Amino acid sequence: MVQSPSRPMLRARPVSPVTAAEVAAVRQPTVRASLMPPRVYHDPAVFQYEQEAWYGGDWVCVGRTEDAERTGQYFLATVAGESIIVVRGDDGELRAFYNVCRHRGATLVEEPCGALVRFQCPYHAWIYNLKGDLRPPRHTELLEDFDPAAWGLVPVPLAVWQGYIFLDLSGEAAPLAAHLGDLPGELARFDLGALRRARRIEYDVAANWKAIIENYEEYYHCPGVHPQLNRITPYNLGEWVDGDGPWLGSWMPVVGEFETLSMDGASHGRPPIAGTRDEDMRRIYYFVVWPNMLISLHPDYLMTHWLEPVAPGRTRIVCEWAFAAEAMAEPDFDPSDAVDFWDLTNRQDWHVCQLQQAGTRSRAYTAGRYSGIEGSVHGFDLMVADRYANDGIQSRVDRVTKDKSAGSTAGQVTRAKRADAAD
Ligand code: FES
Ligand SMILES: [Fe+2]
Repeated sequence: MVQSPSRPMLRARPVSPVTAAEVAAVRQPTVRASLMPPRVYHDPAVFQYEQEAWYGGDWVCVGRTEDAERTGQYFLATVAGESIIVVRGDDGELRAFYNVCRHRGATLVEEPCGALVRFQCPYHAWIYNLKGDLRPPRHTELLEDFDPAAWGLVPVPLAVWQGYIFLDLSGEAAPLAAHLGDLPGELARFDLGALRRARRIEYDVAANWKAIIENYEEYYHCPGVHPQLNRITPYNLGEWVDGDGPWLGSWMPVVGEFETLSMDGASHGRPPIAGTRDEDMRRIYYFVVWPNMLISLHPDYLMTHWLEPVAPGRTRIVCEWAFAAEAMAEPDFDPSDAVDFWDLTNRQDWHVCQLQQAGTRSRAYTAGRYSGIEGSVHGFDLMVADRYANDGIQSRVDRVTKDKSAGSTAGQVTRAKRADAAD
């Protein structure tokens, strides 16, 4: 096959280093299942596979449209180890390109965000417009078989949902709406894209990305690890949000006189975000969107985490807090009660995730068991295990068995043939 200069060859789909047999114990009913084999948190071959097959093979959320709102405004994202430029063109379109000059391959843009009228390579000054088209470079006039039109920046498919920007490095993923399944319907009453970021904090966590999502998915640790959170949303109250697609959802009630998750449990007069129903006023919604996005929706603000796996035992996490624009326009607007609350909670979580990362390396550790309240962790692990096994089986925790009074989520695992299964 001849390789087009503007469309480099796609990589072959990698072979999973984790067999169906190795995760068979995970794909059991929760009351019988084992946790993931410890090596999936440590083995560089597993990490490489996940990066290539999952982060490089499906839609991955990289940020919000407000970070590339004006013409020429851009930010850099890292997906599967690749640096990608996300930029707003002069025609208003958002586009994404590999951050690689087509000449001798220099990184084109070094600053993580900013605004540009064009891209100019810092090496030999090749120039690309905001659509990625190459301006005919100096000293290429006499080249044979060289058409500058064929040497534009390599594009990456981009799609937007609720103000979130997703990239598909493979160029082969199903449309974003299909990837998200029922989730857009679940959140259709909100206009999350209209919210504005008030704060961003980046964390460098010495733990595997999956362990961080598993931690987000369970409340078993809340009484001991998060006493501040547990008094506002007690760990044993809450419900699943059910639906199809590679996401998990749940909500927890805000109890007593509390209004939201903040240092004192008050929302300090901030208005509810648009679309909030009466029952939403007393709930915190939590969503994991495969593979790397955590959405925490409060009555008065949105918190989002993006995970960027850096190494088997290291994850960069970007956490953002967004509020209604009208709330932020108030002269006394101050998000610090919400930001400080979650910064504290985040750090409490990272601490125990790091302890887990260290302990699961030990030769003394074998895969443990899910408690009766960790069915949601099991739900995430089944997404992971199915993708390692790659046998076309889609497992899920049967949530009907949930015992609300005990907060138990232990359940059966049901299986279906995955529509997107590999051959
Ligand atoms: S490497 Fe970019 S112009 Fe030479
Ligand atoms: Fe936590």
